[in-house]
Amino acid sequence: MICVVNGPNLNLLGRREPEVYGTETLADIEAWLVRRFEGRRPHGREYADGVWLKFFQSNSEGELVSIIQEMGYDPDVTGIVFNPGAYAHYSIALRDAVAAVPAPVVEVHLSNIHAREDFRHRSVTAGACRGMVCGLGKTGYALAIESLLE
Ligand code: DQA
Repeated sequence: MICVVNGPNLNLLGRREPEVYGTETLADIEAWLVRRFEGRRPHGREYADGVWLKFFQSNSEGELVSIIQEMGYDPDVTGIVFNPGAYAHYSIALRDAVAAVPAPVVEVHLSNIHAREDFRHRSVTAGACRGMVCGLGKTGYALAIESLLE
């Protein structure tokens, strides 16, 4: 299983600053990912229901810590794709959660955080991740999943 975890305000995609984040909703992006990876699955694993992509979203830091902990120690989880939203810029708790779990985590940002306000240039969580993709919109999620399937 690969888990796609989205943090605060990403539930508002489609309505939120569309000039930055586009007009697609989170549900649109999740459905696009399911279609895009249809027929694929983590190596050597069988899924009776065919469902190996799981989606989570939370606006709460503590809940995200718990999701990363739970998914990160689940032996069925091949990896986690994580958009921490603004928490990327200051949540040591989320960085520690990512560092604490054996599952690889790939960070994704829809926007190019380096081309935006100074306070977005630094991600404190990315250093604990296997890698980070930013600025490629929803394609970033697909590339992160692809890297975990390798
Ligand atoms: C974001 C970038 C963050 O700086 C911002 O706070 C978000 C979204 C992105 O996907 O581009 O909420 O993570």
